[in-house]
Order: sequence, then structure tokens, then C-alpha cells
Amino acid sequence: MRESEVKVNGQIRMREMKDNELLLDLLRDRLEVKSVKAACWRGECGLCTVLLNGELVKSCLVLAVEASGGEVVTVEGIGEDGSGGLTAIQRAFMEHGASQCGFCTPAFVLTTHELLRRNPSPTESELSEAVSGLICRCGTYNQIREAIAAVKSYDKRSVPKKLVESIR
Ligand code: FES
Ligand code: FES
Repeated sequence: MRESEVKVNGQIRMREMKDNELLLDLLRDRLEVKSVKAACWRGECGLCTVLLNGELVKSCLVLAVEASGGEVVTVEGIGEDGSGGLTAIQRAFMEHGASQCGFCTPAFVLTTHELLRRNPSPTESELSEAVSGLICRCGTYNQIREAIAAVKSYDKRSVPKKLVESIR
């Protein structure tokens, strides 16, 4: 065990970390960040994806101690104005029925956010590539693609700057 500090969604959280503890387990089991889903524990489903120091990582493949001193952002941390309100992406998922059981939705929303933050006008193939590592067991891939395309059209109506800033 070691005392450590990690910032999660803007808040400093101090916890003793076991040397072999996964970031996934720290977030879900001890910090109660339940949007981060545990499904395969071996890097295949992508549903445990979080931002660690600005990079998308699968938290089942990262040790908690690797996040020590760093910053983790999950879908709870990307509200439109930092207040927890819905983002344009979240609204698009609702409007297009891109969420059935909702198990995969946080990972898709977070991944799409990060894509648009880096590249506000992705091509179809860039979009597909960005979410290709995520599995939706309900098979809502078509609706998810429609939702993401709708966010791109919101982009053209000049929402993107706010959208892009919301993830900082
Ligand atoms: S639980 Fe991490 S990739 Fe599936
Ligand atoms: S909506 Fe159920 S896993 Fe994707």
C-alpha cells in the first residue's frame, strides 16, 4: 500500500493504493465512479475507457499507481459547462436512440468527445476508427453513428467551440 493522490473529474482524491490494483477497480470500487464499466478486464471491450492525463486509456490495463499524481476524466467530468449538464454529444445520443441498456454509452460519449476535441471535423473513417475499439452488446452501432453525425452537424451551427472547451 502507498498513499497517493489522483485528481478525478477535477477533484483531488487521496487513497492508499495497492501496488497491483487496477485503475478500473480504484475508480469503480473505491471512488464510486460507476460510469466506468468493467466487462472483459483484458482490453477487448473498451468500456472501461477513461482519459488519463489527456489520453484515452483502458483502465483495466492501467495500474492505479500509474495514475498517481495524474488526472483522470470520466464522462461525469465533461458536462457542457462543467456543471454536469448534458453535452451536445449526450443530447445527440438521446435524440437518436443510441443507447439501449446504456452500458456502453459512457465510453462512446467520452471517446467521441476526445475525438472532437482533437479534430472538430472528423471524416466518417476517422469517426469509425475512433470508436472501433468499443463494443456495444446491444448492437446500436447504426444509431451511434447517426448520433455522432448529428453532433458534427451541430458543429456547423457553431456549437463546437463550447463543446470542445467543455472537456478541458
Ligand atoms: S474492461 Fe477494460 S477493455 Fe474491457
Ligand atoms: S446500448 Fe447496451 S451495450 Fe451498448
